[in-house]
Amino acid sequence: MTSTNRTPVITGNWKMYKTIEEAVSFVKGLIPLIQDAPAKVYIAVPYTAIRPAADEAQDSSIVIGAQNMNDATEGAFTGEIAAKMLTDAGAKFVILGHSERRRLFNETNAFIHRKLEKALSEGLQPILCIGETAQERKEGKTEEVLKQQLEESLGSIRGDQMATTILAYEPVWAIGSGQPALPEEAQAMHHFCRHWISEKWGEEVAQQVIIQYGGSVQPKHAKNYMDQPDVDGLLVGGASLTLESFNQTIHYSSLGN
Ligand code: PGA
Repeated sequence: MTSTNRTPVITGNWKMYKTIEEAVSFVKGLIPLIQDAPAKVYIAVPYTAIRPAADEAQDSSIVIGAQNMNDATEGAFTGEIAAKMLTDAGAKFVILGHSERRRLFNETNAFIHRKLEKALSEGLQPILCIGETAQERKEGKTEEVLKQQLEESLGSIRGDQMATTILAYEPVWAIGSGQPALPEEAQAMHHFCRHWISEKWGEEVAQQVIIQYGGSVQPKHAKNYMDQPDVDGLLVGGASLTLESFNQTIHYSSLGN
């Protein structure tokens, strides 16, 4: 198993935080701090901030994206947003299947799969979130749950599409709880996912897929995750909201354990 060819990706997920002004001033402040970053930096901003944040980030390496989308091209879906609207606003990627969407908005794997296909066809890079609940973990069903989420959300996309799709392993019990998974636990699940991908699309594709860990990531433990061979990045919620903690997380290698 080699992880040498994968450039790490650290994604901030701002959820329902930040006005346009706050988003733009954050991006402006982050640009000079990440010139020498060891990872690519993505930020999933609120819809209203996509265009201004993307404009602010345009001469930098920061990649701006969205946190959700609908699977339809367009139509009478009050309050929804289409992939084309996101790319039009400057989004380059989209988070799909976040556990808050699954839990609070009843999103199913089938729906997430349709969104994934749509995102790919519109040139938006998906970050597909998967993860087990505390109860499923207690019952020893973690791998079973991940397998089902992978199978049903990814479906039979092509190998080249799989290779550019980012996976985010986010145990539901770890999100926003202050109780992150142990780095070794994350590694075991990432390895499980990569192995599953290799069985379906082959080892070459599996070796290209970026697998992020998410769930209560703090700058102080970022390096412990990134040291794991199958952890290629982080999906960061709370710690992405201030410049200081996000910048420290991005520069994980310069922080101790
Ligand atoms: P958290 O959120 O880092 O605040 O736990 C992670 C996520 O929901 O993606």
